[in-house]
Order: sequence, then C-alpha cells, then structure tokens
Amino acid sequence: MSDRRSFLKKSGLFGLTALASNLLSEEKINALQTLGKEAGDKTPFALPALPYAYDALEPFIDKQTMEIHHTKHHQAYVNKLNETPSTNLDYSSNDAVKCSRVDKSTSAVIRNNLGGHYNHSLFWTLLKPNPESKANLPAGKLNEAITKNFKTFEDFKKEFSEKATKHFGSGWCWLIEQNGKLKITTTPNQDNPLMKLEGIEKGKIIVALDVWEHAYYLKYQNKRADYISNWWNVVNWEKAEELFTK
Ligand SMILES: [Fe+2]
Repeated sequence: MSDRRSFLKKSGLFGLTALASNLLSEEKINALQTLGKEAGDKTPFALPALPYAYDALEPFIDKQTMEIHHTKHHQAYVNKLNETPSTNLDYSSNDAVKCSRVDKSTSAVIRNNLGGHYNHSLFWTLLKPNPESKANLPAGKLNEAITKNFKTFEDFKKEFSEKATKHFGSGWCWLIEQNGKLKITTTPNQDNPLMKLEGIEKGKIIVALDVWEHAYYLKYQNKRADYISNWWNVVNWEKAEELFTK
C-alpha cells in the first residue's frame, strides 16, 4: 500500500477520502499526508521496563535506589525529550543513531536528555541479579579481548575502577572498542562514546557504569568506590559479550 493510502487508512480518513476524492484537491491530500507522516515519525520516547525487579540487585544495589533511579531520574529524561520536539532529531532512527548524530551544534536539552535516556536504557540491561554472590566474570570472546588488551581481568578491573572512582563530578565510565582495541574511558554528564563531541573517545560501547551520585548515594553516600566495588557483582557479562560481538 502506498504511503498515502496507508496513512489515510490508519487515520480513518480512507473511506472519507475515497468518497470525497473528487472534492479534495491533490494539494490538500498531500498536506494531510505530510501531517500524518510528521505525527507518525515522532514516536514518543518511552521508559523501558527493567528486565528484573527493583530489589533483584540486592545487596549490591538497593531497591530504593533502583526504583527512584528508574521511575524518577530516567523517566525525567524521557519526559523532557517528549516535551522538546526537535527539528534536528531524526525520530525514525533508533536511539543509538540519534546519539551518533549529536555534535556541538546540538542543543543542550537534547544532548543531555537523549544521552540520559540512551545511557540508562543500556545500563539497565548491563546489570543482572546475583543473589548468591557468585564470582562474576566475563567469558568467551570478550574475556579473550580483555586479557589481550589489559593482561588480566584483575588489571582491567583495577583500571576501570580507578577511572570510574576518579571521574570528577557526574558522568559515566565505559569499556569501548575503538579501532579493534578495548579502551576504558569516561564522559561527563550524560554524554556517551557515540557522540561526536570534542574530548569524547568514540567507540562501540561494551560496558557502562553510571557514576552520578543518584546511582549510589542512598546506600553508599559519598563512598563511590564502595558502590563500584559492589557493582562488579552485578555486571551482566552476557549482555556485554553480545554488545562486543555484534
Ligand atoms: Fe543515572
């Protein structure tokens, strides 16, 4: 079905238009079609459901933090995006592509809230429950790449923890692949390694860690290092492997 017929059918105007096609000018039908396309393209951003319960990451990340983080902080980024229609955003592209188009000309409100939405959506999937506190280590190709790039997993863990702990203020710590090599990098605020911004190391995201205070303050207060130390127990290495190999 053509775009025009599809739009008219979806909008309930198909029958009406069929009857009135002799009465409506081509110009008016085109205008209606354009309106429909614009409305259809601007799919609202939505808060993704968590793939586990709010208390599932206990005792490493507490229920209250997870609930507030998801329903208040992440929801706020989603709401702001939906309240701020942008002529520069391609609403039909996925959120990773949208992030990859962020550059210095992008407005702060879009940069911050699109980053906030994308980063958190990814972060939730990179966590998994570990109620029995089992050893939590990467496997497969990602493990091979980590040992190749950082010598041992412990060396990688140490460097990542140090960078995440020392990152000044709010931001994120990432494991990325850049030109075939693994790198640990941090970004301020809600920026991420997909964005074309000065000072940002660009690359494919494999692991993400939120080091904003809202991610840990209720349980850990000012002890970011303790939050990071416990976070290693709930890293979803299967998801990281999927991101690495795709
Ligand atoms: Fe956060």
